[in-house]
This record gives sequence, C-alpha cells and structure tokens, in this order.
Amino acid sequence: MPESDLEVHLTDADLAAGLRQDARRGLTASPKWLPPKYFYDARGSELFEEITRLPEYYPTRAEREILTTRAGAIARLTGAKTLIELGSGSSEKTRLLLDALREHGTLGSFTPLDVSGAALRHALTDLRRDYPDLHLHGIVADFVHHLEVLPEAGTRLVAFLGGTIGNFTPAERAPFLAALRARLAPGEFLLLGADLVKDPAVLVPAYDDTAGVTAEFNRNVLHVLNRELDANFEPDAFAHAAVWDDEREWIEMRLRALAPMRVRLDALDLEIAFAAGEELRTEVSAKFRREGLTGELAAAGFAVRDWWTDRAGRFALTLAAAV
Ligand code: AVJ
Repeated sequence: MPESDLEVHLTDADLAAGLRQDARRGLTASPKWLPPKYFYDARGSELFEEITRLPEYYPTRAEREILTTRAGAIARLTGAKTLIELGSGSSEKTRLLLDALREHGTLGSFTPLDVSGAALRHALTDLRRDYPDLHLHGIVADFVHHLEVLPEAGTRLVAFLGGTIGNFTPAERAPFLAALRARLAPGEFLLLGADLVKDPAVLVPAYDDTAGVTAEFNRNVLHVLNRELDANFEPDAFAHAAVWDDEREWIEMRLRALAPMRVRLDALDLEIAFAAGEELRTEVSAKFRREGLTGELAAAGFAVRDWWTDRAGRFALTLAAAV
C-alpha cells in the first residue's frame, strides 16, 4: 500500500506524550482513573477481539445483526459517496456497509480513522485487496482532537460504531457531537452504534465474563504503563471489577488493589500509593435510552432519521442527518 494513502496527524511521540500527561493526571487524582484508550496496544486489541466473541458480550453480535439487516436501507437513505469510520480498528463490521454502498453504486471512497497506525495499515492492506476500485484513505488521528481532518468529498456518512460513544461521559459527549456536526454539511449523515440500558444481570456479565478475558483486558492497561512509562505495577495484584451505576446508567470497569502497595513510574519520576481495596477506574461504558440519545443528537444539530435495534432490543443503530 502506498504511504500516501495514510495521513498521519498523530505520531507515536504524540501518543506517548498524551499517555504521560493522562497517566500523571489520572493516577494522582482521587479517586484514581485512566482513560480507556490505552487498553488497545497489540495485546489489548487481540483481547478485545476475543471479548467480541464471548457468549456474555452481546454488543458486537447485536450490532452486526442490525448492520446485516439494515445496510441496504442505510445505503439507499444516505446515498453516501464517502464513508468515514471513527475508531475503525479492524474495520470488520464496516464491510457490511461498504458492500451495501458499493452495490447501491454511490460509494467512491472509504476513510478509516484510528489512533493506531499499525491497525490502520493492517486494515488498509486487507481492504485494498478486497475493494480494489475503492479510494482508500486512512487517517491516523484521535477523534476527540482531530475532527477537522475529515475529508470533504461528496455526501459523507460518518460511522461511529461499536458503542464507543459510551466511553465518553455526558459532559464529554455534547462537545464531541457538536464538533462532529460542525464538520458536516446539512444533509450529511452520522451512523451511531449505542448500547442500550438493560437489566444489570445482562450488562454486568458482559463486562465480567466467566472465562476472565475482560479481566485480562482490564489488567492489560497496567502492562502498557509498565512498558511505556517504566512502571512496576504487578497486574496480578489487582482484581477486575465491573460495576453498574444505576444513577448514571453506565458500567465502570475498575482495578482493585488486593493489598497496600507503592508503584513507581520511572518515566514520570512518580511514585503512587494504593491502599488495600483502593480502586482505579479504567473505563466508563455508558448505556443509552432512545429519548435521551435523540435529545443529545438534536442538541448537537442532528435529526434522527432512523432508529434500529437488534431483535432482542439490546443495541441501537441510529441514522442521523446534520440539519
Ligand atoms: C469498545 C468501548 C465499545 O465499552 O463495551 C469491552 C470496550 N470494555 N469490554 C465497551 C469494552 C470492556 C467496549 N467499547
């Protein structure tokens, strides 16, 4: 693949600087926290792929079910010429959209955007082989900071799938949706995947599976800190916890120190202390209701055109138009 098909707005040095800043801020706060984006090194991305195949983790299958049944309608309703995917990762489910848009005859280009250049290169190599006629243009960027880099070509459909919108708190969602809306022209589209509020007896096991894959995924962020920041976390000295917050309607993943300990992060020249039982919040995964999400989209300048769920009503795909 020619390098010109990959536009880099975020270098490894930028990522490293971001990690240092976020780790210092989060680990010196009370309660301690880390942003979820650092889960996804090579090992973490593999573990996430494994999570998507777990019996307890329904969102990926539910979203695929919706895409399988609705991709044709999405192609018809949008007539998109350019598909942009935020946080594309492996772009695996996106192929359902690419196929439908290609069949509809409007699609000219696909722009996956991800913080991981390695993941993008890999995905683009596979896509190039399977979609030789499509103009493929990868963008290495952080969708929180770099929305101004979205290409301006034809009617655009921006896909933000998987329920990743849930990683934002409500206070972060509003400016994100507004910034995205500001980059689009009226009549262009957002396709948003969102996990729905449901019985905690279903939600909690999705984030605390019996095989322990999610626990490993959670602890992996400590391996990332050990490697990237010369830290000496003992990942096995932390228990995985998934907690449903009934008021804020989100799942929190946490790592709970099993004993009192001190951890050094040499690259930050920082030492932090954990009390026995102290928790580090590693992820928020918000769950949504139709009225709430429709209202948030409207406040950002998007009108919901369609709202589809899987047959079991667990997950929603929303097609919204910029107004
Ligand atoms: C990729 C953010 C949508 O919140 O369900 C899976 C990540 N965390 N299991 C989610 C995740 C634990 C996932 N998202």
